[in-house]
Amino acid sequence: MPETIIEIEGLYKVFGKKPKSIMPLIKEGQGKQQILEETGHTVGLKDINLNIRRGETFVIMGLSGSGKSTLIRHFNRLIDPTAGKIKVEGVDIMKLSPKKLQEFRRHKMSMVFQRFALMPHWTLIKNVAYGLTVQGIPQKQCLEKAKAWLKTVGLAGYEEQFPSQLSGGQQQRVGLARALCTDAEILLMDEAFSALDPLIRSEMQDQLIGLQAKLQKTIIFITHDLDEALRLGDRIAILKDGELVQVGEPVDILLKPANAYVRAFVKDVNRARALTVETVMKPPACRITAETIGEALEQMKKHSDNYAYYVTDEGYQGVVLQETLEKAAATDKDHKLASKHIEDIPAISPGSILEAVIPETLYTDYALPVVDDKGDLCGELSRISLAEVLGEMNVDQSASLPS
Ligand SMILES: Nc1ncnc2c1ncn2[C@@H]1O[C@H](COP(=O)(O)OP(=O)(O)O)[C@@H](O)[C@H]1O
Ligand SMILES: [Mg+2]
Repeated sequence: MPETIIEIEGLYKVFGKKPKSIMPLIKEGQGKQQILEETGHTVGLKDINLNIRRGETFVIMGLSGSGKSTLIRHFNRLIDPTAGKIKVEGVDIMKLSPKKLQEFRRHKMSMVFQRFALMPHWTLIKNVAYGLTVQGIPQKQCLEKAKAWLKTVGLAGYEEQFPSQLSGGQQQRVGLARALCTDAEILLMDEAFSALDPLIRSEMQDQLIGLQAKLQKTIIFITHDLDEALRLGDRIAILKDGELVQVGEPVDILLKPANAYVRAFVKDVNRARALTVETVMKPPACRITAETIGEALEQMKKHSDNYAYYVTDEGYQGVVLQETLEKAAATDKDHKLASKHIEDIPAISPGSILEAVIPETLYTDYALPVVDDKGDLCGELSRISLAEVLGEMNVDQSASLPS
């Protein structure tokens, strides 16, 4: 099991004059709207239970006002809960002394904000170095590191410029560099890309994905945009009116929405673009490893299909047809299986998006072999599984089926 880094247990947050006095009403089941009307208190979060794993990109998604910012601000205790526990690496952060809390904020987590929050009268390098400077690290070292991070986010040469000289996308790169510069293991990103133009936003997403592949931080990324969530998230949590309605991998959210709310959210997603081969492939039905024609035929006859994937120590070789084997066996059963018996059916890779492999599935009569970058056969993708996933009808069915 992957290690848990942040653990949230029974978290409630009520805004207003006497938050604790509202708890019984919430537990009785009174709604957010009713509580607001009758008591003037706002229920920000209700009974949140979550485990975030080390090294994952965890997306928190929901409409405006659903409680995303409130939730993320509990992680570094910018907000204190009305009830519940927040543990980071097993430590209950409500129990930290003011000094320990300050240290925790400086070293464990860093935040990237929607509106960049750069110091306008500071040079970029000084902005980036800020998190290190406050840790008391010697200035020279801070600046060297800041320079390196500016370079990593594509802003080499901009060190002495000021934020106002940069575009929004560039400013957000500085925000990212600043967060990364402290080496904090956890990155909190609250709508960090939401203020950017679509094209720049998409570039920033690519950059984050690239960086994350190298850095393996724990990233908690807030967005109200489903496409962004699906693109970035290893797992996605969906909030509605302060309550968690579903937590799962993108494929779960898309194909097994927990309720009508999530279903409505994912209705218009282009699944062919959002899902990879890996998420819909099945285990390869018939896989043959025989050396001779006779053995191959025997292995194949145990299965219902009249074709099979031929695999050797070197990995996937191609497709063999029962008909070919039968013809060859008629003359010499003990003959070695050779390339003339093997159809050259191109393999697809598990990480490809479905859209990219649709043409291939249309032009072959067999389920396509899915072969990983080591050359091993890891699954098959049939036209039927593809149609099931892309077809509207089946998604609704799968939502109501037990998984
Ligand atoms: N400081 C506050 N005082 C009162 N209500 C607040 C405060 N902060 C947030 N809220 C309320 O809590 C709910 C969740 O807000 P927020 O976490 O900002 O949502 P999101 O980030 O998903 O847009 C909203 O109803 C909001 O009005
Ligand atoms: Mg917010």
